[in-house]
Amino acid sequence: MDSRLDSGVAREWVRRWDRQQERYIADREERFRIIGDVVERVCEGVDAPVVVDLGCGPGSLTTRLRERLAGRVVGVDADRFLLELAHATDSGADYLHADLTAPGWTDGVGGKWDAAVSTTALHWLRPEDLAALYRELAEVIRPGGVLVDGDHLREPQPTLRDLAAHVRDRRAERAGVTGNEEWRRWWESVRADPHLTGLFTTEELSCRHGGYGNGLGPDEHVAMLRSAGFAEAGVVWQYGDDHVLVAVR
Ligand SMILES: C[S@@+](CC[C@H](N)C(=O)[O-])C[C@H]1O[C@@H](n2cnc3c(N)ncnc32)[C@H](O)[C@@H]1O
Repeated sequence: MDSRLDSGVAREWVRRWDRQQERYIADREERFRIIGDVVERVCEGVDAPVVVDLGCGPGSLTTRLRERLAGRVVGVDADRFLLELAHATDSGADYLHADLTAPGWTDGVGGKWDAAVSTTALHWLRPEDLAALYRELAEVIRPGGVLVDGDHLREPQPTLRDLAAHVRDRRAERAGVTGNEEWRRWWESVRADPHLTGLFTTEELSCRHGGYGNGLGPDEHVAMLRSAGFAEAGVVWQYGDDHVLVAVR
């Protein structure tokens, strides 16, 4: 994949993306480290592990995993502009333009995978698309390999749900991220940057894939993963409504 983007411009937009995302996930870097810890453990003794980042955006997690792992790390996303940001700030990862809901997209990566990872992306998929994705992942992840997903998951019990949101919000206040740039503002600023408007269409600079919150809770994810063919599934880390869920093939 050739990038049209200047790497300095791309780096600045990724830095701004990370700050924007921290508005919603104050412990984002810790979540990345925990996902990395799980992946590292599962890949111990594997010569050239294959790890695939689902809905990688501009490659924040992809890059951090690439720094920790010797092997092939592939970032997958349906948004060409975000993928180009990832590619232009090259970490040595591969990037694949694909829709996670399109049957057979995993052929674009090929082979058996040691791990699939994801952050703040799978809640965008409708339950039936997520169930199909889990079935597809169960086919390509090797026995003993894992899916590791960091995302906001919805607690079904109302009082606990409110308390989890309160814990998250207080954490965000303490971390000083509540004034960070909003998602919508980030995209508006992208569309106003002359470095980008000469290279991308307005449509390409408008996030088209998402916004849908499937509202699934941890237990629903676990049930879907088990019925897709994963042997074990459960939460290994949680802060408020922020979870890291692991499923073992
Ligand atoms: C909130 S962003 C998170 C990006 C990145 N994982 C991070 O943590 O910074 C959600 C990402 O999921 C991607 N996405 C949503 N639906 C998708 C789909 N059906 N196929 C591929 N990517 C999708 C979006 O394009 C976007 O990059």
